[in-house]
Amino acid sequence: MGLLDAKIGLVTGAGQGIGRAIALSYAREGAAVVVADFNRAAGEETVQLIEQAGGVAAFIYGDVSKEESVAATVDFAVTRYGRLDIACNSAALSRGSGLVHEYERGVFDQTIEMCLTNTWLCMKHEITAMLNTGGGSIVNISSNSSLRGQAGNTPYATAKAGVNILTKSSAAEYGPHGIRINAVSPGVIRTPGLEAYFKQQPEMADELANRAVLNRLGEPQEIAEVVSFLSSDRASFVTGQLLSVDGGGAVR
Ligand SMILES: NC(=O)c1ccc[n+]([C@@H]2O[C@H](COP(=O)([O-])OP(=O)(O)OC[C@H]3O[C@@H](n4cnc5c(N)ncnc54)[C@H](O)[C@@H]3O)[C@@H](O)[C@H]2O)c1
Repeated sequence: MGLLDAKIGLVTGAGQGIGRAIALSYAREGAAVVVADFNRAAGEETVQLIEQAGGVAAFIYGDVSKEESVAATVDFAVTRYGRLDIACNSAALSRGSGLVHEYERGVFDQTIEMCLTNTWLCMKHEITAMLNTGGGSIVNISSNSSLRGQAGNTPYATAKAGVNILTKSSAAEYGPHGIRINAVSPGVIRTPGLEAYFKQQPEMADELANRAVLNRLGEPQEIAEVVSFLSSDRASFVTGQLLSVDGGGAVR
């Protein structure tokens, strides 16, 4: 018996990193998974990995910051598998950072679009599908960057803080309709993007690891375990919560 047996799931940004780990975990726990990403090769590879492990998955290409793509993605899940039970909105892309008085407006606007507006768009269409079948569970991926002031990273931190209150407010709206909505806030997680950064700045590996009281980086799988739990019926009385999965980084 898996945590998510017979569920139909959708994971955005499932082509690599945390999103891929979540898609693999959903499938391992028994869900059929729609893998959504705008990197076709990466998304198709995630599906292959799931199928090689004996799971069920299908890829859909699209940019989840565009409403027509989001509508097509949710429609694909419902058409192919009959309904949508669980969804994790993990796709995000920062368009830049810097000091507030120095970066251009486009950096702020596009980061909000790729990290916050996309999450709202996904929720809008996921919720519509879930209302049609009597309920479901959504997990949004936030970031510890949203929890306290973070110099030099205001567009991303602001967008992720928006994800937090979007999660809580919408949980209040849809709880009565059987839809639970939570968020997970990762600390520093060892993803391909971070590994590339460490190649340029190796000294950052220890510094970032030491932000966690467990004195190490997290693994994508450690985020995925928590997302699968929150998505599952085991978390049936949990909604509107923001859970940091960060090796204790938020308590420092
Ligand atoms: N890695 C970390 O340490 C860390 C820490 C805190 C929060 N997070 C959050 O976790 C999530 C995943 O992070 P990651 O490090 O695995 O990211 P990543 O950059 O490694 O992977 C993101 C994936 O999402 C896809 N994607 C991005 N925007 C998309 C869009 N608009 N439409 C479709 N696909 C899109 C990319 O193609 C990629 O496959 C993000 O929400 C990120 O903000 C990551």
